[in-house]
Amino acid sequence: MITIILLIITTLFAATYAYWTYVQYKTGWHLLKQLPGPKVYWIFGNILQLGLNPEHHLLQIRRWAHEYNYELSRMYGGGQAYLMVTNPKVAEQVLSSTVLTYKYDPYKFFWPWLGQGLLTANGKHWLNHRKMITPSFHFAILQDFLKIMNETTDRFMELLNNYATKKDMFDFQEVVTRSTIDIICEAAMGVPVNAIQGPTSPIVPAIADICDVMRQRIFSAFNRFDFFFVWTSAYRKQEKALAILRKELSAIIDKRRVLIKKQEAATLKTDDTGKRPKMAFLDNLLTAEVEGKPLTFQDIFEEVSTFVFEGHDTTASSLGFTVYLLSRHPHIQDRAFQEQLAIFGNDVKRNATFQELNDMKYLDLILKESLRLYPSVPFIVRTLLEETEIGGHQIPAGTALGCCIITLGTNPRTFPQPYLFKPERFEKRNTSNPYEYVPFSAGPRNCIGQKFAMMELKVTISKIIRHFEILPAVDGLSTGIHDPTDPNDKINNPYDTRLGFFLTLKSLNGLNIRLRRRIY
Ligand code: HEM
Ligand SMILES: *[C@@H]1O[C@H](CO)[C@@H](O)[C@H](O)[C@H]1NC(C)=O
Ligand SMILES: *[C@@H]1O[C@H](CO)[C@@H](O)[C@H](O)[C@H]1NC(C)=O
Ligand SMILES: *[C@@H]1O[C@H](CO)[C@@H](O)[C@H](O)[C@H]1NC(C)=O
Repeated sequence: MITIILLIITTLFAATYAYWTYVQYKTGWHLLKQLPGPKVYWIFGNILQLGLNPEHHLLQIRRWAHEYNYELSRMYGGGQAYLMVTNPKVAEQVLSSTVLTYKYDPYKFFWPWLGQGLLTANGKHWLNHRKMITPSFHFAILQDFLKIMNETTDRFMELLNNYATKKDMFDFQEVVTRSTIDIICEAAMGVPVNAIQGPTSPIVPAIADICDVMRQRIFSAFNRFDFFFVWTSAYRKQEKALAILRKELSAIIDKRRVLIKKQEAATLKTDDTGKRPKMAFLDNLLTAEVEGKPLTFQDIFEEVSTFVFEGHDTTASSLGFTVYLLSRHPHIQDRAFQEQLAIFGNDVKRNATFQELNDMKYLDLILKESLRLYPSVPFIVRTLLEETEIGGHQIPAGTALGCCIITLGTNPRTFPQPYLFKPERFEKRNTSNPYEYVPFSAGPRNCIGQKFAMMELKVTISKIIRHFEILPAVDGLSTGIHDPTDPNDKINNPYDTRLGFFLTLKSLNGLNIRLRRRIY
């Protein structure tokens, strides 16, 4: 009996040992282990230190970046080696490269929904689509989008007014997505889905469901693997949401095709007056061709989904943290309000023109500083297809390069006193190295929606500060910013944000504020 047990134990031990040796060999660990980094444990790598908890994960990565002095470091988890990029020079080498553009983990969790959409695509498909879509964000088209933002943010102010009337605190992070979903759905598909007053389209809950599933998957030890995932209720939820989104989009596409035909006839007539019909992003996809062929339904579904996802979750995150910061920094809020008064005079409730948005210089600094502390996309990842020299080291094929946008923004060498909210710092900054600050990434795979996003942030925040005074959850709270690298800086207040990484940056305990209507 004892011999059998001993035999089993020995076999198990030998098998794990062989597996671990193989994994180390396959990932080129002999090269990576020459770099600094946390102690790597047998089988588990660094998974135990990182945890599968979105808050702890983010904290640990930020602490290690600090510990390794914002230079290259490596770590190891789930059979995957990571090189952490926290330094502007290396970020430049990676992000400016036209070769290091390959995305795999964790983008693969989006494939069931976003497929080969721009965010998750690779190779030739990505390049062709990037070229095709770039004109959709042309200056002239942004003006059409401004109209949607004008109208939606007016409705959003009405919604916020209900909260201001009640005077209680509420979770702004949850409420703001309604506005960002309305804007992006109308901009992308040309149809209002009305998430603000109460959804008039099944698209809204379907988007919420599928985002939910993708977030959970990344932090699940088992559901990361398709093998386990397909047996879960989360999988069924994902498939149900996908079916709804496909059905709705195909109905919308049919209607748009008819409309485009009519509009083409109309533009031919009104061409000499210079009038251009309003175009949604979808219309461009419906009329576009790649290598002489129109896009398939699957192509269009993936691109529209990509824009709906990237375009609402990111802006909601940034709007949420900006409002939170303003609630804790009344002097900065007041200066922003004075700037609005100077622009709008006594007509404070109207829409801003394109020019006026450009004139909001101080608001621009606020948004930059807010994205530095709370970048909507805290990490991006590139996977090496072959052994490459990065920052002076040979890095093996298969390694994931984790570009830590959030730690680039809080590197004290680039931003002294990084945990202070000081919009003015961007006034005097020497911007000779654009890779020091990359909330929208940089280089060939940067954010294609950057101008759209900045316009939406400005339109929304500008209206909020003209309509309301933003107050902290309760009186007498601190700045609400904590230093993750300082062990003495514990978050004791329930209203101070606890950051979590869900691909986009979220506050785990919400972003509670109060609003007081401004009386003119
Ligand atoms: C505050 C708002 C936003 C932030 C901070 C942001 C940030 C980013 C970042 C960091 C990336 C690089 C992702 C990666 O390398 O994996 C990215 C890519 C992208 N963003 Fe944004 N984004 C924002 C808003 C938007 C909006 C409003 C849209 C659409 C209208 C959009 C569409 C995209 C797309 C399609 C890509 C993929 C580009 C490519 O790979 O070629 N983003 N964004
Ligand atoms: C948004 O509102 C402003 C101010 O009324 C106006 O100048 C601008 O043209 C509007 N934008 C669109 C596209 O309707
Ligand atoms: C802002 O613009 C939208 C769309 O152009 C319009 O419907 C709305 O009435 C405008 N709001 C104000 C307060 O003028
Ligand atoms: C900005 O930094 C670059 C490189 O460090 C330097 O060459 C340049 O003189 C600086 N410019 C200003 C205005 O300080």
